[in-house]
Amino acid sequence: MTRVVLVTGGGTGIGRAVAARFVEEGARVVITGRRADRLEAAVGELALLGASVEGAPGETALGSADGPSGGLAGESAGGLAGEMASGSAGGLAGGLAGGVVGGVVGGGAERPGQEFAGVDGRVIGVVCDAADPAQVAVLAARVGAPDVLVNAAGGLPESRPAVTVTGRDGAGGDGAGGDEGERLAAVGRQWESAFAQNVLTAVLTTAAFEHLLQPGASVISIGSIAAERRGGSYGAAKAALAAWNAFQSAALGPRGITCNVIAPGYIEATEFFRDGLTEERRALLIEETHDKRPGTPDDLARTVAFLASAGARHITGQTLHVNGGAHTTR
Ligand SMILES: NC(=O)c1ccc[n+]([C@@H]2O[C@H](COP(=O)([O-])OP(=O)(O)OC[C@H]3O[C@@H](n4cnc5c(N)ncnc54)[C@H](OP(=O)(O)O)[C@@H]3O)[C@@H](O)[C@H]2O)c1
Repeated sequence: MTRVVLVTGGGTGIGRAVAARFVEEGARVVITGRRADRLEAAVGELALLGASVEGAPGETALGSADGPSGGLAGESAGGLAGEMASGSAGGLAGGLAGGVVGGVVGGGAERPGQEFAGVDGRVIGVVCDAADPAQVAVLAARVGAPDVLVNAAGGLPESRPAVTVTGRDGAGGDGAGGDEGERLAAVGRQWESAFAQNVLTAVLTTAAFEHLLQPGASVISIGSIAAERRGGSYGAAKAALAAWNAFQSAALGPRGITCNVIAPGYIEATEFFRDGLTEERRALLIEETHDKRPGTPDDLARTVAFLASAGARHITGQTLHVNGGAHTTR
């Protein structure tokens, strides 16, 4: 049976590589992210990868009539999946005839729920902020039950407090906590951003889909080596992700569902560092590995594929480190 794979943060980097690997395996893949342009580009590229893969006609990433994925998506037969299978001229299907990237349901500006589809609908991109409960609820109703859920969405916090502390020593302060209050507010925003991006995204997405998951399903969340180090808000958030994963594994294990974290070390060719990594820092990160190379998104994609395979059914509740030896567990 064709598997359905949902990858949050699948428009770039590690998530995109994970999506590519599953497309190449013949799965139906849904990727999400907040930026429509990234999703649109990724769907186009992934659809090309999948063009040579065999699949049953009419099987789309948003559900078929059979299997777990037929659940909710099957009920919404009037929605995207139905349109695509029937070749309706309306909405997305109309755009599909015209090119690799199917187009946009409803058209217009970038907005939550906006969808992009490859030619045969086996790769779908859905604009969705995984830290927004309402958007995630809409996504779950749209997608149905995935066989593999990959929580790859995450990254460094969006706001960072100034390093210089004005007001703490009285200089520049108003004596009534003004500047110090602002500084602490910035600290709070940074931590909220780190936890929203790296914990809430996985927690909400899993909570939205867990009742749909069938025995044999896998939930795989991308953590970080930063959880083992002086990671600040980001590392603390990834450590919390691993703690939540252990809880989640215990909850879903009796249903035959595995839950694991993969913790990457330094991985190149993603948007993670936002071009902010100096050559010196990059060299240090590579030097601390045992194999003297950076990780690649495909290293991660292959590990995800393994954890979602039949050979990994007794692996659950774990954090699997993929870092070339930069951090060892002993
Ligand atoms: N690269 C590394 O060295 C490294 C090391 C350790 C761990 N990691 C982890 O690996 C994962 C993937 O990162 P990457 O390296 O591939 O970087 P990346 O290219 O920046 O990928 C992160 C993806 O997550 C998406 N995203 C972020 N917040 C989101 C949200 N609230 N809702 C939906 N999507 C969201 C981003 O898309 P939008 O901005 O469009 O939403 C982006 O596509 C992250 O969890 C990261 O923390 C990376």
